[in-house]
Amino acid sequence: MAYSFDTVIDRTQSSSTKWSRFDADVLPFWVADMDFAAPEFILDALRDRLEHPILGYTQRPDSLNRAFCDWLSRQFDWNIEDDWIVWVPGVVPALNLATQTLKADRHVIIPTPVYHPFLDLARNADIRETRVPLIADNNWRMDLDAMQASLTPETRMVLICNPQNPTARCYSREELAELAEFIVKNDLLLVSDEIHCNIVLDPDAEHIPIAALDPRIAERTITLYAATKIYNIPGVSCAAAVIPDEALRTAFMEARRGLVHGIGPLGFEASEAAFNDTSTWIPELIEYLRENLTLVRNAIGNRMGVHEGTYLAWINVADLRLDDTEAYFAEHGLGISPGAQFGAPDYIRFNFACPRTTLIEGLERLQQAIAISV
Ligand SMILES: Cc1ncc(COP(=O)(O)O)c(C=O)c1O
Repeated sequence: MAYSFDTVIDRTQSSSTKWSRFDADVLPFWVADMDFAAPEFILDALRDRLEHPILGYTQRPDSLNRAFCDWLSRQFDWNIEDDWIVWVPGVVPALNLATQTLKADRHVIIPTPVYHPFLDLARNADIRETRVPLIADNNWRMDLDAMQASLTPETRMVLICNPQNPTARCYSREELAELAEFIVKNDLLLVSDEIHCNIVLDPDAEHIPIAALDPRIAERTITLYAATKIYNIPGVSCAAAVIPDEALRTAFMEARRGLVHGIGPLGFEASEAAFNDTSTWIPELIEYLRENLTLVRNAIGNRMGVHEGTYLAWINVADLRLDDTEAYFAEHGLGISPGAQFGAPDYIRFNFACPRTTLIEGLERLQQAIAISV
């Protein structure tokens, strides 16, 4: 093993968002960043850049586009063209830019539960939304019939997340093909947030970029990626929107103008080093996360459904009948994300991307918190 994920690193003095939200005696398992050191080859790239003493406004290096295209091809067998890529300082700004391309009074469909910034998009863009619940039968699926029923003459866009945060699904080829058919048939656009694309833990699951399925869906899709989740560098703020259709890409870039800042030199540098990675980082990390997932499953058993991707466990706590879920778990020494944030109050989201000793301590607290309440 080239990488060690067991090392516990004190983050309390680093202004970490994850480690600042709760009191010092609470172990944080909430926001989606990992308690692992970023790989040395990324830190080296940043150190090299810092040899130059000026951190001025920075153009995107051509080599970054080549690295990103090669990475998409290597990881997911999707061959894209250089000029389809628009760089943005984050996936969340890109989600907002996508909805900003729509005129007022337009309508979008958002399957829920979903990563909470999706739930702000319609309000931010002054458009209308319908939240269509995923079918919760232990294996959260999109409800295309309900999506069909929620169409209005003003519906223009569907926004999804795959791998799905927080339900941990990786949609299958068949599910994606059905969604693609729905999008094309109803003359819609699709935004697919694929930031967790590398974090597939179920050996029978795979990540498939929906836009790679066929050119008819590609030309209607904005696909969002970043190296920040899998390499644990979310603080460097760099993401890519892949937009094959020229008119849609132009509208997206127009929306970006003046509203969203350029990317800093460290974001470009770290991302390029990440996209050039051919080391054992990803397979070793995935192996470690799989073992962590097994521990979570063993600790809380049937409170979880199918878990295919992401390092975020989606845990049913409906029977606890909690008024303030976040406060309840914090009282038991655990910082979790309450499901209400994602549109599903019966759940909590628990980030298990941490060294094993931390996880074991957290799972003991989780078991106690659950046992006391039921
Ligand atoms: C599904 C999803 N999209 C986007 C983000 C955040 O992306 P960014 O930091 O690039 O805005 C996260 C972070 O947790 C996420 O889980």
